[in-house]
Amino acid sequence: MSTPDLLIVGSGLFGLTIAERAVAEHGAKVTIIDRRSHIGGNAYSEADAVTGIEVHKYGAHLFHTSNDRVWEYVNRFTSFTGYQHKVYTTHQGVVYPMPINLGTVNQFFQAAYTPDEARALIAEQAGEFAGKDPENLNDKGISLIGRPLYEAFIKNYTGKQWQTDPKDLPASIISRLPVRYTYDNRYFNDTHEGLPTDGYTAWLERMADHPDIEVRLDTDYFDTSQPLNRDAVRGNLPVVYTGPVDRYFDHDLGELGWRTIDLETEHLEVGDFQGTSVMNYADAEVPYTRIIEPRHFHPERDYTKDATVIQREYSRFAESGDEPYYPINSGADRERLLEYRKRAEVEPRTLFGGRLGTYQYLDMHMAIGSALSMADNKLPDLLRG
Ligand code: FDA
Repeated sequence: MSTPDLLIVGSGLFGLTIAERAVAEHGAKVTIIDRRSHIGGNAYSEADAVTGIEVHKYGAHLFHTSNDRVWEYVNRFTSFTGYQHKVYTTHQGVVYPMPINLGTVNQFFQAAYTPDEARALIAEQAGEFAGKDPENLNDKGISLIGRPLYEAFIKNYTGKQWQTDPKDLPASIISRLPVRYTYDNRYFNDTHEGLPTDGYTAWLERMADHPDIEVRLDTDYFDTSQPLNRDAVRGNLPVVYTGPVDRYFDHDLGELGWRTIDLETEHLEVGDFQGTSVMNYADAEVPYTRIIEPRHFHPERDYTKDATVIQREYSRFAESGDEPYYPINSGADRERLLEYRKRAEVEPRTLFGGRLGTYQYLDMHMAIGSALSMADNKLPDLLRG
């Protein structure tokens, strides 16, 4: 096997976009390595062994973007269904539409407020903290939408996400809590939205489907027994690294904090468990944050009517060895990140990208957009050496 012109560490959407661009625009020969046994990073999905329903292995993935360049780019590899995401939440045995909108407000207060009446009511309820600087997330939430709605829909859900009482969380975690004064409960406002018609994995595999792209799975960049490892490659080969930035530097300055999720899968002998793809659970007594029922992502498919699969989602702080999902971004994390970034900038012939390489939550369209910018602005120099 000949030495590639470019090594990409990580076959998520960031790495795949760089690989595709390097081949298409620069005629480069690319090797992608991934420590997992499948391509695609966290966007990967697979058919459930029992029901055949497509399941998003690392949590629900909904594609949406207002970036026309990204939309045009992704449509080269897959078409998209017309799926529009909507979320509901269960609070004290009653189901409400999310995000909080006129339907939620009227159902909650058992009323028929007009948009202006609802706006006035919430402004009045939010007035409890008028003139005060909220010191924690709890007070901030109340100051944004008033105590009744905050305590019903935000307080315990956020507490479960962070395993922390919102009174002990910094106010800065939320800057706004949108309330819509219409009955529109589409979750995303983006121009383009949908799910890949043939599934995520078909899309991701097409991006790497080129004779000049070699994908090596079950291959860790830090495993010195495999030939393309960091110690052997460093400075000798152009590299785009999309793994965790702190791991690259052997956690020299300490580990960056992440939250993770656990998904508990259950098969049920009913055709439809909850009538929708995502049901949040807003109350503290329910230990999980939400239940995903993947069959509803593809109502156009002819799935079995006799069985379904659901995933209960639990959120917690990641420990060493857990999958890092959402950056915690504490003050200490931000200081460490700045130091790691300084090191990353001078790392020879290596660019850092993607959600792990930059310690940022990135939606899929953001990861792809950021990879396209790197391909435009930095890849030519990297490949020239
Ligand atoms: P990604 O994590 O996908 O890929 C990185 C790859 O690097 C992984 O495959 C990993 O195995 C590999 N790697 C790491 N270290 C390595 C090493 N040492 N050696 C070799 N390989 C290594 N977005 C969205 O638009 N809509 C949504 O609904 C959601 N939902 C969602 C839910 C959850 C729970 C999460 C955590 C994330 C989302 N996302 C999302 C975000 C989406 O997952 C994200 O945008 C992409 O995964 C980003 O792609 P990357 O390539 O940056 O990382």
